[in-house]
Amino acid sequence: MTGDDNRPSPARRRLGRTGTTVHPIGLGAMPLSLEGRPGPGQACEVIRAFAEGGGTLIDTANAYCLDNSEIGHNERLIRDCVRRLGIRDRMLIATKGGLTRPQGRWETDGRPEFIRASCEKSLEDLGVACIDLYQLHAVDPKVPFTDTLGEMARLREEGKIRCIGLSNVDAGQLQTAMQRVEIVSVQNRCHLLAARDLASGFVELCGRLGVTYIAYSPVGGHHGHVELARQPLLQELAARHGCTPYGIALAWLLAQGEHVLPIPGASRVQSICDSLAATRIRLDSGDLARLDAMARR
Ligand SMILES: NC(=O)c1ccc[n+]([C@@H]2O[C@H](COP(=O)([O-])OP(=O)(O)OC[C@H]3O[C@@H](n4cnc5c(N)ncnc54)[C@H](OP(=O)(O)O)[C@@H]3O)[C@@H](O)[C@H]2O)c1
Repeated sequence: MTGDDNRPSPARRRLGRTGTTVHPIGLGAMPLSLEGRPGPGQACEVIRAFAEGGGTLIDTANAYCLDNSEIGHNERLIRDCVRRLGIRDRMLIATKGGLTRPQGRWETDGRPEFIRASCEKSLEDLGVACIDLYQLHAVDPKVPFTDTLGEMARLREEGKIRCIGLSNVDAGQLQTAMQRVEIVSVQNRCHLLAARDLASGFVELCGRLGVTYIAYSPVGGHHGHVELARQPLLQELAARHGCTPYGIALAWLLAQGEHVLPIPGASRVQSICDSLAATRIRLDSGDLARLDAMARR
């Protein structure tokens, strides 16, 4: 993994209890491969802007594509851009396995043999010998969770994965997993209009367990971001802080704990540049109290 950095930098956030630190804002690469995706040239410009702005963690998945015929689309795109830009050494690439895309639907497959085959294909599609962070995309209710985890642990023992993460899990599943294998991160949906993990104390629990909480859809989601940006409170605070409503949404998430890492998606350069700038927004306690109240509604 290449996010290692021994220089003390308050701006960087630690990945789990590892020695690796990353920029507090990651890039969610999903919009670069779903419907409405940009061409490869624009996608590469988004990644370039992210790297030039200091970004270090790119979140992908083998299932970020239109359907099963192009599994690995997003991973290959990232591999090609990162190679072209010569930035592999600066990037931590987090991918996922455990979902399929029949006719564009999202379905779970946590069978050990499927996880192994997916991981091996991700190694090839990312063009790496070891995956920096491999996340289980979702728990498969048809397969004993411990069987899926056992295979991920074996892949790590074989040197194919450096760190293991989970996605779309609850506190019970995280604790079950942690009894069997080291988990460095949880990736769940969390934004101002969907803050269940904050209300339930799950985000706080992750912090106590030394697990990085990666907040996905942090500005409202692939389609929902437009509604979030229209919220009057976000517009008011954005005007006062001289930033966008997106910046306010991200700054609020960053304020939830040093272990919280939002990964806003972007298919435009302007979006990712604006998101990276959220680290410079200083919300005061009054702002945070009002945003917390909004998140509780
Ligand atoms: N683990 C999971 O099950 C799961 C599920 C969903 C998402 N994710 C991950 O989380 C990432 C983010 O989630 P998401 O893409 O669903 O939703 P999101 O980050 O909440 O919103 C994405 C959209 O919001 C727009 N946007 C973001 N920041 C902006 C800014 N600063 N200014 C203006 N527009 C901005 C972008 O528009 P443009 O496209 O126009 O730039 C982008 O397409 C995904 O890319 C993926 O990596 C994981």
